[in-house]
Amino acid sequence: MSKLWGGRFAKGTDALVHEFNASLPFDKRLAAQDIAGSQAWARGLVGAGVLTQAEADTIVAGLAEVGEELANGRFQFDPADEDIHTAVERRLTELVGPVGGKLHTGRSRNDQVATDFRLWLMDACDQVAVMLADLQQALIASAEANLNLPMPGYTHLQHAQPVTWGHWALSHFWPLTRDQERLAQVRQRTAVLPLGSGALAGTAFPINRQALADELGFMTISQNSLDGVSDRDFAADFLYAATLIGLHLSRVSEQLVLFSSSEFGFVRLDDGYSTGSSLMPQKKNPDTLELTRGKSGRLLGNLVGLLTTLKGLPSSYDKDLQEDKEPVFDTFDTLSLTLPIMAGLFRTLALRPDRMAQQLEPNLLATDLADYLVKQGLPFRQAHHLVGEVVQLAENRNVPLTALSLADLQSVSDRFGADATAVFNFATSLNNRDITGGTSPQALQAQLEAAQAALPKHGR
Ligand code: ARG
Repeated sequence: MSKLWGGRFAKGTDALVHEFNASLPFDKRLAAQDIAGSQAWARGLVGAGVLTQAEADTIVAGLAEVGEELANGRFQFDPADEDIHTAVERRLTELVGPVGGKLHTGRSRNDQVATDFRLWLMDACDQVAVMLADLQQALIASAEANLNLPMPGYTHLQHAQPVTWGHWALSHFWPLTRDQERLAQVRQRTAVLPLGSGALAGTAFPINRQALADELGFMTISQNSLDGVSDRDFAADFLYAATLIGLHLSRVSEQLVLFSSSEFGFVRLDDGYSTGSSLMPQKKNPDTLELTRGKSGRLLGNLVGLLTTLKGLPSSYDKDLQEDKEPVFDTFDTLSLTLPIMAGLFRTLALRPDRMAQQLEPNLLATDLADYLVKQGLPFRQAHHLVGEVVQLAENRNVPLTALSLADLQSVSDRFGADATAVFNFATSLNNRDITGGTSPQALQAQLEAAQAALPKHGR
């Protein structure tokens, strides 16, 4: 096989080594970015006096043809093609002749791959942001449809205080808003142009790097060529942001696995979003939720893998860096499945208010009873203790709190008045939390509006 860099070699590469060294099987995905970056570079070489306008025109048109072949699957890869960069240049030269050999002047695959990868990731960030916004939209719709539907709220998975479905659904909306912010920051840090860094020391031709950046849609240009070719912080940033997205989806999945179980039965998954058992005919399994939960491990693995690869590297390019792409592609692909599936799952999720109501038991209102005593002038700590005694009394008699008589309550404290039992009302309990972030209908309406306003434009 004849290599791009074969001049100083007396002998060809071992077949296994060729396979080991090649990145083409996965960096094919950078084809469109490689073409765009190369076209910009050809134009830049005109400005630098390396190419005539006619030569650049030939190269740019040739690259467009290569791009078309790649896009429609007609491109014939050669066994000697090491990566997408060598494949494109080889084909370009076949199409336009020796002038194609001028394209790589002053450029290295080191600054080329960093440029392609960043361009690809800028687009990937935009795509993830759109998918994320769609899931956020689905959560908002679910919250809006049942904003004030009461359900038990849990801490330690024990009955705590009443909340509503809308409140719960929006509790999974806000983490995704933070994810949107992180993604926007990742995109910004990715949009730094390394092209012009050459192999490591910068290019010896007077290329206008800012013009390259403007043409390709980068926001700024790298300031140090050694750092320019080796900086993969943007990839790690993306993997971290994606891992947190996966973690947020895993948490909501875990909760829905519980809520869809026979024991809770608060929700029913749509048939389209669940699967059956090959043995037990009655089963309807939340596989989508379990896979979403499971895939968060894979996302974290991709992050840890890349960080580990990067940790021992000096500045400038080392071939270790070729290991940067697969985890990023895999993470993007994982999110590209998981996010739309979760959005669809929420859009088709059936709620079961009857089952939620069954679980609304009076202990959820014990705090409200303590708050009642506080309003009678007792310090909260004392009120807490007294209501603890009331709870114990009910538990000893094996009856709900609400079955206790006023006399029972007064046997614990004479501060309990005739109006004390009015506390045993779920709507009142929800209404009383009339504060930003709380459960009253007004507070929930305000939260819903804040969520709608926080939703990125493309999600509305
Ligand atoms: N396929 C390589 C990568 O993904 C491109 C850069 C190769 N550079 C080199 N000096 N061999 O990193």
